[in-house]
Amino acid sequence: MSVETYPHLFQPIRIGKTIFRNRIFAAPNGCQYLDGRNGPSPDGVAFFERKALGGFASVTLGECIVDRKTGQSHDYQILLDDHKNLPALSAMATAISRHGAVAGVQLQHCGMYSHLVYEKGGQLLGPVDTVVPDVHHTNNDGHEVAMSPDGLRHVRGMTEEEIENLIRAFGKAAAFVKQCGFGMVMIHAGHGWGLAQFISKYVNTRKDRWGGPELENRMRLPLAVIESVRKAVGPGFPIEVRISGAECIDAGYDIDEGVAIAKMLDGKADIIHVSAGHHESDYAATITHPGMFQEDGCNVHYAAEIKKHVSAPVATVGALTEPALLEEIIASGKADIVDLGRQSLADPDLPLKARLGKTEDIDVCMRCCACFSNSTRTRRRACAINPATGHELEEQFTRPPAVKKKVLVAGGGIAGMQAALTAAQRGHQVVLCEASDSLGGVLKCEAMVPFKKRLGEYLERQARRVRAAGVDVRLGTKVTPELARSLQPDAIVAALGAKPVKPPIPGIDGENVFGAEYVYTHPEVVGQRVQILGGGLVGIELGIFLSQLGREVGLIEMLPELNDGGNMVHMNNLRVQIQQRKIGVALGTKALAIRPDGVEAEDADGRRFFPADTVIYAVGQKPLSDEAVALSACAPEFYLVGDCLSARSVLAATTEAYNAARDIGRI
Ligand SMILES: Cc1cc2nc3c(=O)[nH]c(=O)nc-3n(C[C@H](O)[C@H](O)[C@H](O)COP(=O)(O)O)c2cc1C
Repeated sequence: MSVETYPHLFQPIRIGKTIFRNRIFAAPNGCQYLDGRNGPSPDGVAFFERKALGGFASVTLGECIVDRKTGQSHDYQILLDDHKNLPALSAMATAISRHGAVAGVQLQHCGMYSHLVYEKGGQLLGPVDTVVPDVHHTNNDGHEVAMSPDGLRHVRGMTEEEIENLIRAFGKAAAFVKQCGFGMVMIHAGHGWGLAQFISKYVNTRKDRWGGPELENRMRLPLAVIESVRKAVGPGFPIEVRISGAECIDAGYDIDEGVAIAKMLDGKADIIHVSAGHHESDYAATITHPGMFQEDGCNVHYAAEIKKHVSAPVATVGALTEPALLEEIIASGKADIVDLGRQSLADPDLPLKARLGKTEDIDVCMRCCACFSNSTRTRRRACAINPATGHELEEQFTRPPAVKKKVLVAGGGIAGMQAALTAAQRGHQVVLCEASDSLGGVLKCEAMVPFKKRLGEYLERQARRVRAAGVDVRLGTKVTPELARSLQPDAIVAALGAKPVKPPIPGIDGENVFGAEYVYTHPEVVGQRVQILGGGLVGIELGIFLSQLGREVGLIEMLPELNDGGNMVHMNNLRVQIQQRKIGVALGTKALAIRPDGVEAEDADGRRFFPADTVIYAVGQKPLSDEAVALSACAPEFYLVGDCLSARSVLAATTEAYNAARDIGRI
């Protein structure tokens, strides 16, 4: 029984009049699935309800806007100033609460980053008159939003009356949230948003009582907001305040001021929630949402420092995944509550699994940020390793297959393992054939890379699950049409993957040239100076790995930009790494020939030479589509999934495999 293994983690905590069943909270996620009035739609409700079902003590809806006229930054935010959102929000509160979690709403005003206000012809308001650079020229989903004629956003400092209106708006929104049935609120005063702009010394240079060098003045608005919210919700109703423990930008405040801010919140906020960073800086954003290059629990030290100085319960957030670490944080007194963001998408059942001693079965977030990137691009939630995420409503209506079938899965990579697992879990009889001598596919080669540790663990976990589900795994078995026919399957899932492309460049067969896949497992073959042909994800990540091993790395990319493969949040992490590690980047550059001493190339300005001891090619993957299509007539049901369609992401592979496996045996 793991309640005993994690006694501090599962120790309930009373805050105000509310008892939280454990210390694991689901950190705020914006809702995104909205109805026509910007209230949550049924699939939004299901998304948050799923976390409650998994055992989180509290589940909070992110960035709900208290006043759309002045505070909305993009189209996909819940609006709390529309009373007609009552039924949808009540449905949300009910759905979360019925599983024993406390339902929470994050109260948000985006201040000078309320870009939608500008689009509507309104006025951007912030602490002071300023100009916001053109970083958010889209509505976060690609559609262009209005700009002023000079292409910049002109912010006006709030008048006293506008500040008073804002304070009232927070109170009104809190009262509404309580009426809807939510059990707590979180005031967003971190990450550079509205209230954080007032706290920030580099933004808020007002000359009156609402700003300037004195922290007391800069804290006046957040404290007035808490007072207004308290009046609205009454005593005993938990008010959590999210701050950045440090802004992590050059002119921003550091942890010493973070402590001073927390001390001023102490006694007024019921939970001081300590995040870090700032959404407007590429570097600071990697602190707010730590990528795969940061350590687990890398932001806990901010909370731990603050906890030494306050008596209110302190929450910590950022790169928290494994129950043992969560337990240690609470047990050692670094924080009272752990908030899990992306982990709650990777495995909403983490609390329950930890409590039941099924820790090994937890899907641990890889911090690949596919969730975040997908949300921004498509406004759908997703998780690379949990294909059910974002489909919680469909899951509720999923039926068992009408007919149990004999299923042949061809290929034991990420897609093949997912298809085999899902099909077996749905009761089908599954044979999984893999040509190589182990499961895992093309990404096995990255499993030993330190920042890909979680990917390696995921591949092992999936392989373990496949066998535990009773799948007949046949290694060293290539699926030909003859073999497929001889097995007489009712359904075939072709998940054959792709193979690396070797570019036809003079010198490519030289002794100093290797493919990326080989180098991952044999980094010792790489000399001190290395040039990588290809600035896609594989090339960039390999470059970072080799730089970590002390090599001087350059990337040569034909296209005008490095290719993020659609994952722009991970790409931000990669860019920060490229910069910090001084990895050379030559864009718009075509390799012409490889010599023993480097690469001859050409860009718009003419020919160039890149000296190198070793040259690596990472120029893409060729889908094994012909081999896959050849299997189509070998069974009544036939499905193509993953990289054999076209080489893409883990997310695409798991999603397609999962969906195909769920379609098998409908008739
Ligand atoms: C998809 C996604 C949506 C998020 N939405 C919000 C939000 O609405 N409000 C907020 O304060 N933080 C938001 N965050 C930040 C998380 O609450 C959390 O602070 C951050 O992801 C770091 O925690 P993690 O490493 O556990 O993911 C979001 C994060 C992700 C990945």
